[in-house]
Amino acid sequence: MLSLLFQLLLFSKPSFEASLCNNLYNGTTKNFKDIVLGRCFYYINSLHKDNCEINSANLNCSLIWDEFYRVIVNKSPCQVSIEDFDQFVHLTSHPYSNEKSVFWSGTYKAVHQISRLKGDWTLEDTLSGYLLDGLSFCSDNKSDNFLTICPTDCVTRNNPFWNAVSKNYASKATGRVTAVLNGTRNSGALSNYSTFFNYELPSMNFKNINHFQVILLHSPEMSKYETCQMPKTLNTLRNILQSNNVTYECIDDNFYLKNFLCIENQNSPECQKLFSAFSKTSSVIPFWHASASIIALTTFNLLF
Ligand SMILES: *[C@@H]1O[C@H](CO)[C@@H](O)[C@H](O)[C@H]1NC(C)=O
Ligand SMILES: *[C@@H]1O[C@H](CO)[C@@H](O)[C@H](O)[C@H]1NC(C)=O
Ligand SMILES: *[C@@H]1O[C@H](CO)[C@@H](O)[C@H](O)[C@H]1NC(C)=O
Ligand SMILES: *[C@@H]1O[C@H](CO)[C@@H](O)[C@H](O)[C@H]1NC(C)=O
Ligand SMILES: *[C@@H]1O[C@H](CO)[C@@H](O)[C@H](O)[C@H]1NC(C)=O
Ligand SMILES: *[C@@H]1O[C@H](CO)[C@@H](O)[C@H](O)[C@H]1NC(C)=O
Repeated sequence: MLSLLFQLLLFSKPSFEASLCNNLYNGTTKNFKDIVLGRCFYYINSLHKDNCEINSANLNCSLIWDEFYRVIVNKSPCQVSIEDFDQFVHLTSHPYSNEKSVFWSGTYKAVHQISRLKGDWTLEDTLSGYLLDGLSFCSDNKSDNFLTICPTDCVTRNNPFWNAVSKNYASKATGRVTAVLNGTRNSGALSNYSTFFNYELPSMNFKNINHFQVILLHSPEMSKYETCQMPKTLNTLRNILQSNNVTYECIDDNFYLKNFLCIENQNSPECQKLFSAFSKTSSVIPFWHASASIIALTTFNLLF
């Protein structure tokens, strides 16, 4: 029955095709303040309303917003420094299971689909990352508001906000740490352009970390830049970890994440092979057959 549902899920055709829209808008996200404040209230009062650690943190959304506004507005994006966010980081900080920290680089979508289901914590699952995740924002030194057109430098690239919260998040990781990296892209899994390499890795407190697991994802039907068996940039990561007495483990395409990538790429030969291997190990019951079994079971339960 389970396998039947799985098959329906995987092989059913999407009912609509996503249409591509040429959205060149690259300024501050529309309704920015409402979105950030709304996310803040939602995070505390709904998403984590039963999380005692977050309840106990006395988070104050209006204070958080005011502080964010104070740091960003009336400065050019590159005039904002990482340290300018110290108070923001303080106001948004809350306890969480930092022994379940998951870092990512070049694997945003797959990681975030899975992390919350698993009870893991990426930066974007903590409040500071959650508030601004996917949003765009900037001001400049001649304006007392957010702007509708933003430059690239220090906004889409090398943004001091993301550098600040990433450093803080990395400094808190303990125990077993996971990093989900991209083995397909040709700047390497440990890309020297990445926030992971430039800000997170250098901020980790290795004395609190005993094991570091890399899950290396490869997109179906794309050529592999590196693998755990044939590492390129990953050698640098292994060396950094080993010189800090942290054990290093590397896994190519683990089960859950590979299946997730295959939900998005159902027709690729690689994924078809994965699916057919799966359906061979579990018998596929035709639908009428399955319904008949349910009726039989129900009757059985009613009788006895
Ligand atoms: C957004 O950025 C692109 C590339 O930098 C530019 O071509 C486009 O004109 C910008 N759009 C707006 C609305 O500013
Ligand atoms: C949040 O901070 C503001 C400004 O200091 C204060 O007026 C408000 O009462 C605080 N809200 C809560 C729920 O503590
Ligand atoms: C890895 O990076 C490539 C190139 O940027 C991208 O096309 C691919 O979707 C990424 N793979 C994953 C699993 O996110
Ligand atoms: C405003 O920022 C620009 C760079 O974005 C800089 O060249 C200029 O000197 C700044 N002006 C003031 C008054 O700080
Ligand atoms: C970044 O890494 C590439 C190899 O992936 C290397 O050729 C390049 O020199 C590096 N750049 C810097 C600034 O370290
Ligand atoms: C790693 O462990 C060795 C042997 O226990 C020790 O001598 C060394 O100082 C440790 N290095 C770090 C960076 O903790």
